Amino acid sequence: MSPLLRLKPKPRLKTKGRDEPFVPWYFRREIVETYESWYTGKGARMDRLEKKLLRALLPELGEVRTLLEVGCGTTHFTRWFAQELGLRAVGLDLSPLMLREARKWWDGPLVRGDAAALPFPDGAFDAVAMITCFEYMPEPLRVLQEAQRVARRGLLLGLMNRWSLSTLRRRLQELLGKNPFYQNAHFYSLPEILGLLRRAYGPGAKIAWSCTLFPPVVPLEAARVPFGSFLALAVRFPDSPIAGGAKDERRPHDA
Ligand SMILES: C[S@@+](CC[C@H](N)C(=O)[O-])C[C@H]1O[C@@H](n2cnc3c(N)ncnc32)[C@H](O)[C@@H]1O
Repeated sequence: MSPLLRLKPKPRLKTKGRDEPFVPWYFRREIVETYESWYTGKGARMDRLEKKLLRALLPELGEVRTLLEVGCGTTHFTRWFAQELGLRAVGLDLSPLMLREARKWWDGPLVRGDAAALPFPDGAFDAVAMITCFEYMPEPLRVLQEAQRVARRGLLLGLMNRWSLSTLRRRLQELLGKNPFYQNAHFYSLPEILGLLRRAYGPGAKIAWSCTLFPPVVPLEAARVPFGSFLALAVRFPDSPIAGGAKDERRPHDA
């Protein structure tokens, strides 16, 4: 996901040499109001490829009927899960501005909340999805544990891959002060996120992953090569109803 790169960033907030308090972009109205429109313009290819990959990975979690999308933003993916994949989806986001924007696009269930303290009982959903929002979470281990608490089967994770040209560009822009969108983002590489997932869920979790959005010269839409701009992982929790079952043999792309 990178609608953020296409939005015109505002200059760093400075007053007479003194930094104003940092405000993440998702609490800034002028950015939030243009977020969704990117997906239908220059982001259309990215949108198509990310959804294609997520659709391919979702079955790795087993039978999923109910899904919580944490960090749902404008519900771009929440309503796709609901309308295209037929899931009973709920969107959750920290930002009231994002949720207000979301209401323009979707009349399904939306909840304001923090990924680190989800306002749902244990096992309330089959799955949790987090699409390009985990990067913004300062307590990643706790967020992963919360996902496991509320989801019976597993987690679908979509990340801006640290090991990609797009993220290199993002980081350079951020370092040069030309892009405020990633100031509070941490970009994960495949080994780092796999290590974190193992810490959170232990060796019993089954992890499938793949990448999409390779540079245009690479004639691949998706591949198990950890350099695409979008890295997607499906994590089946160790105590998932189907983990360890008869159909539980590891696939070629399991980690
Ligand atoms: C880049 S947007 C992604 C939105 C949507 N998933 C998409 O891909 O279009 C990141 C979202 O994460 C949300 N977010 C950041 N920290 C969060 C937290 N601790 N709990 C819940 N949502 C959070 C932001 O408000 C923002 O809407």
